[in-house]
Amino acid sequence: MLITTKGLSKTFGGLAAVTDVNFSLNKGELRALIGPNGAGKTTLVSLLSGRLSPSSGSITFDGKDVTKMPAWKRVRMGIAYTFQITSVFPQLTVYENVATAACYGQGINLTTDTLVTECLVNVGIEDRSSIKAAELSYGHQRLLEVAMGCSLKPKLMILDEPTQGLADSEIENFCELLVQINKDTTILLIEHNMSVVMQLARKISVLDHGRIIAEGTPNEISNNSLVQTAYLGN
Ligand SMILES: Nc1ncnc2c1ncn2[C@@H]1O[C@H](COP(=O)(O)OP(=O)(O)OP(=O)(O)O)[C@@H](O)[C@H]1O
Ligand SMILES: [Mg+2]
Repeated sequence: MLITTKGLSKTFGGLAAVTDVNFSLNKGELRALIGPNGAGKTTLVSLLSGRLSPSSGSITFDGKDVTKMPAWKRVRMGIAYTFQITSVFPQLTVYENVATAACYGQGINLTTDTLVTECLVNVGIEDRSSIKAAELSYGHQRLLEVAMGCSLKPKLMILDEPTQGLADSEIENFCELLVQINKDTTILLIEHNMSVVMQLARKISVLDHGRIIAEGTPNEISNNSLVQTAYLGN
């Protein structure tokens, strides 16, 4: 098991955003996390990455209890997280953005340049490496974020709605990219686009009102009546 949560909960004032979640991912998985707006998906992955600390419960990553570990230490242990809202450094070049992430994850070393180039090539924006991130199209900014995540050489990559705002043609390439990344990285993907979910995930977890209401294969999930009522509609 790469990551496991036990009884994980987060309340904001009186609001229960995540409630008693027992969640785990095996190494090598490409798992989708779905659910209606406000279900608690971003909150759950923020707990996993350490951006938020839980109200109760625990998180084990790679055999270690990380419940109280700060986010930057979790990054160094191998948890990379891309935000729901695009968060590149707009005034830095594309290259500098990835180099900054790489240094954050690995420290500055002689391999940084090779690593940065490799990550830019992998996501397909190496020809834009010297322009400012602010000048990239939205789709390319999202690819840049993925390159930044890859430069951390994570064991787990968490992507929060990465295809939001992408054109259909971009989404197709993005799916191929995730399949490539998944060859050596476990992926947890929050995604509203059900065709992306059905195409990529071998297993899906469904969150509703802060609780996991179903887990299963794409087929099992699309035939689950609880899920249809809560999310898929019918
Ligand atoms: N920092 C916060 N302070 C107070 N309430 C919050 C905070 N973050 C999230 N919430 C609330 O917690 C609940 C879960 O929100 P969350 O953003 O995790 O949902 P989500 O499943 O990611 O939704 P979406 O699909 O719209 O991104 C919502 O009711 C939201 O308003
Ligand atoms: Mg969200």
